[in-house]
Amino acid sequence: MTTHTFPDRARVDALDKVRGATQYAADVAVDRMTHAMTVPSEIVKGRLVSVDVQAARAIPGVLRVLTYQDFQDVAEAVLGAVGPYSFRTYHAMLSDRLIYRGEPIALVVAETLEIAIEAAALVTATYAPDAFSPNIDAEGTEVFVPEGSISFGDFDQAFDSAAVTIEAEYNHAAQHQNPMELISTTADFRGGHLYIHEGSQSSGAIKFGVALSLGLDPERVHVMSPTVGGGFGQKNSMQQQTVLVARAAMLIGRPVKLVLPRGQIFHMATYRPVSRHRIRLGLDAAGKIVAASYDGQQQNSRAETFRGAFSETAARIYAIANYRSSEQLIRTDTQSPGFMRAPFEHPASFAFESAIDELAHAAGLDPVALRLANQAETDPVTGLPFTSRHLVECLTEGARRFGWDDRSPAIGSMQDADGLLIGYGVGVGCYKAATSPVIARLRVSADGRSRISLSGHEMGQGMRNVIVAALVARLDIDPQQLEVIIGEPDGAPQHVTAGSWGTASVVPAVEAVADEWRRKLDDLRDGRSVAGNVHQVLFRLKRPYIDAEVQVLAPGQPVAVMDRLRQSLPSAVGPQYPEFVGLSFSAHFVEVRVEPSTRRIRVSRVVSVIDCGTVMSPRTAESQVYGGVIWGIAAALREISEQDPRYGGVLNNDLADYVVPVNADIGAIDVSFVNKPDPLLNAAGVKGLGEVAMVGVAAAIANAVHHATGKRIRSLPIRIEDVL
Ligand code: MOS
Repeated sequence: MTTHTFPDRARVDALDKVRGATQYAADVAVDRMTHAMTVPSEIVKGRLVSVDVQAARAIPGVLRVLTYQDFQDVAEAVLGAVGPYSFRTYHAMLSDRLIYRGEPIALVVAETLEIAIEAAALVTATYAPDAFSPNIDAEGTEVFVPEGSISFGDFDQAFDSAAVTIEAEYNHAAQHQNPMELISTTADFRGGHLYIHEGSQSSGAIKFGVALSLGLDPERVHVMSPTVGGGFGQKNSMQQQTVLVARAAMLIGRPVKLVLPRGQIFHMATYRPVSRHRIRLGLDAAGKIVAASYDGQQQNSRAETFRGAFSETAARIYAIANYRSSEQLIRTDTQSPGFMRAPFEHPASFAFESAIDELAHAAGLDPVALRLANQAETDPVTGLPFTSRHLVECLTEGARRFGWDDRSPAIGSMQDADGLLIGYGVGVGCYKAATSPVIARLRVSADGRSRISLSGHEMGQGMRNVIVAALVARLDIDPQQLEVIIGEPDGAPQHVTAGSWGTASVVPAVEAVADEWRRKLDDLRDGRSVAGNVHQVLFRLKRPYIDAEVQVLAPGQPVAVMDRLRQSLPSAVGPQYPEFVGLSFSAHFVEVRVEPSTRRIRVSRVVSVIDCGTVMSPRTAESQVYGGVIWGIAAALREISEQDPRYGGVLNNDLADYVVPVNADIGAIDVSFVNKPDPLLNAAGVKGLGEVAMVGVAAAIANAVHHATGKRIRSLPIRIEDVL
């Protein structure tokens, strides 16, 4: 099944990575560098009456202690207005207001990291605290109902006349993505220019956002983010600390580096909020799902409107004629949630794919057969055709590879030789296929060197790999002497690399700039036949190099969005397809083994089949899916950010207590791809992979646990005590 258009190749950065030679932002060292540490607030909500910095200042080597008084001119309103550069409205330390436990109240800058840490511990504050709501069940929360829920048909009528119905509520825990690379900013202000090193999915947002916040000319703000040690949505806009560190560097006249300790990631960065999903499904006598309702609730902070778009995918997989959804945001006194890999699609698929399994069980139907019998042929929400859709192949091929036919349907009816209970479960998913406009610049030289510069961030997913793969497939350049410049807005304008649009955005741009370059070479050649590769041809034609530049738009986008891209505005991302709906699809089959007395759950086997259009880099694509499946295992069985109901904040804010799977938790994962190019989305036929890879996994695990134990667990993570 896996016939790859593009050959397998080792990662271009593989050797650097295994040798530890790859430089991340936190590895950066510059001359005369100083070190910063934040001081977290000790209350949840209220006002800062005073901050006592005397004891901290008295430590030798402390250069400055910044408080909100150093940021009076960085009005929150300015950041709010800058909005697109920061996906949250509220930024800490811009006023005496406090809105969540752990937000920074001071920034200590010192000669060494040790001095900064010591001094930070000596900063004290007086607070005027207010009452607070630490979680969505607390007193005093506010409910906000955003517009834009998806509804069609007549749910009530269809549900009331259905032959089999189910109704259930599912809960998803809050989670903090914990990339290996800690969040850090190094800022250096010299000669009237500000240089910032920060691992980011949106280096352009930092450039323009910091410039606006601090009143600088964007031409004088230079941001470097060539490698990111994991982003997952956490690093997709300006972070809270960026402006603080930049201002500190400008005030003290020396470079300042802040590397947030792991514990502070839980209080500085955004996270996946708590969500609740009440679902009703109705099946008719012929086995067609005729009605679905989806009432979603999502935790929010007081300051944000971060919507939970659960129905964007839940409504699009099955041909359900009558669908109704509602959405509520529950405002709590916690910090702002944000995007985390498959932000809505993953929790929604846990809920909806669990509900589909409950419906199959209630009707006595096979869960795969029920899914196959109810596939949407066109998009149920808009009635538009899909650009391409191979979910049926994902399901049938997955069932074949997994051996689904060996499943004995009765609960607890399968055991292995050691007496472990075996459960089989399935879950499917989809994720929107999007692309961003890209400007790409290519120089190929007679001396053998090449340089390509374009929009995109390398956050471990293999962005450089697909750029190299696409370029060498088009031009016979020397890949050993190819420089790929991404994540640096001084090279080419940078988009936010998120939403699984990285590959689908860069590949068509690489192909277009290679073709443009070839056209320029052909002009130069003027019909003459010249032997050799492109470098040799340039040499023989006595031309040191040729430059080419292209602007590649997403389908249907007006040229005017290029102006937005040049300012790194994220709404440059699209497209809004008027005539079709583009989605990637996934099917996951899971085997769990449950120890009968301790009820320890292990995921012994996963088979995942993905329809992401063309597979550009087989090796990194496969790796993406391993990662996605492991995220699904983590969500189902491990991860939860425990919000302290007494004092606010996150209780388990370290990797000892915030539990993620380790190698010993991971069994066999079999990954394959449909690998059929999408004919409409872009010239390369790429749809996108990063997020769809995890969508459906958690439900497949919960469904397998039900099959093994008869326990239907509707709250993640599933714990041993849930299945006793
Ligand atoms: Mo990703 S959660 O779209 O940055």
